Amino acid sequence: MLMQTKEQQGLSRSQFPTDFIWGVATSAYQIEGAHDLDGRGPSIWDTFCQEPGKIADGSSGQVACDHYHLWEQDLDLIASLGVGAYRFSISWSRVQPLGHGAWNEAGFAFYERLIQGLVSRGIAVHLTLNHWDLPQALQEQGGWLERQTCEHFVRYAVEVARRFGSRCASVCTHNEPWVIAVLGHELGVFAPGFKSRAKAMLASHHLLLSHGMAVRALRDAGLQTELGIVLNLSPIYPASDSPADVSKARLDDGLVARWYLDPLVKGQYPQDVLDHLGSDAPAFSAEDMRTIAQPLDYLGVNYYTRNFSSTGNPWDVHSTGNEVTDMGWEVYPQGLTELLCRLHQDYAFPRLRVTENGAAFKDVLADGAINDERRESYVREHIRATKAAMEQGVPVDAYFACSLLDNFEWASGYEKRFGLVHVDYQTLKRTPKRSALWYRQFLQG
Ligand code: FCB
Repeated sequence: MLMQTKEQQGLSRSQFPTDFIWGVATSAYQIEGAHDLDGRGPSIWDTFCQEPGKIADGSSGQVACDHYHLWEQDLDLIASLGVGAYRFSISWSRVQPLGHGAWNEAGFAFYERLIQGLVSRGIAVHLTLNHWDLPQALQEQGGWLERQTCEHFVRYAVEVARRFGSRCASVCTHNEPWVIAVLGHELGVFAPGFKSRAKAMLASHHLLLSHGMAVRALRDAGLQTELGIVLNLSPIYPASDSPADVSKARLDDGLVARWYLDPLVKGQYPQDVLDHLGSDAPAFSAEDMRTIAQPLDYLGVNYYTRNFSSTGNPWDVHSTGNEVTDMGWEVYPQGLTELLCRLHQDYAFPRLRVTENGAAFKDVLADGAINDERRESYVREHIRATKAAMEQGVPVDAYFACSLLDNFEWASGYEKRFGLVHVDYQTLKRTPKRSALWYRQFLQG
């Protein structure tokens, strides 16, 4: 039994609506492993990991947490924490190795087992269709730079929904399209590794368009499940109050947030960002914009930290003196409250969901236990920040801690641990950390 600390007092589950969704999140490539089993085709992340120098520790998701084999114990773990909802993604190339054409029944069988396992444990299914791992075969045809990929995505979405949709509490089209577009196509630090702003913006347009096309197709197919998209969002503050920094912060917010939010809600790209992009802006039609702006049931918000912009390098670390995580990200729970309030005010989605929130810290395994007080405090304070937004009238109905497990942290490999549950990568043994035990205690009321 963990002792209640002073700060913990004043926060309890009973302060949230009884139907508030409490969950944990993962994604396919980060945990599944089994990269070439049972007919799975390669994804762009399998390819990217093979390029020297791309992944900090030279690793890949080939084995990861071997969730493909250990899924049952992972579901038991989720149930044992008292968590009512699980957000995970489907590996597109596991169920359709080429991203078009034949379906892979063995791949679908894995997700069938997983979803049955969740339903039988009373855990709500929150399914993401695309958490970055595009089938490599589609990349070879141009990937997100090609409009045809949107058509393939829609067929994949409809097939997944046909099989699983009625058992899902929600379906999300894309996780963090900005990351795919910018880290993957402009900065080259994520798959597929391009370095072109024009490519990034074109990819972002096709991601948004494929989202709208998929939502429309799923609704036309009669799917009743809640539909949404998940964005990575942070308040962006000017590093100083100089007019140049203030306008830079506004532009950066335009590139990261408004570029996605405005089309989703208003059916148009922000004019200041289009002007800034000039010839790097994608070509699009009025019809595209109408397609993107499908009514959604919720917006998923992934929040980790805030950002500062300056006319110097916009992503320079701006030290505020606050604690930072192992990613170098400032711990700033108030940013989540502000963000949720701003989103509600400017965009008024029917519901907002915190679909990811969590922190990497260097954990020490001592006597079989991980005393990750800082992660516990991070999660607790962000839950409190969520509550603060709700008290201001913002319709937030879910919080997902990320991640359930330590896992393959993309370009950081296995060096960064975000899990509430520790994974020993030699033995694959799972050990709930103090933060997981705190979450369980919180959920038990
Ligand atoms: C988000 C990703 C998630 C995880 C966290 C730390 O951008 O959606 O998979 O890597 O960052």
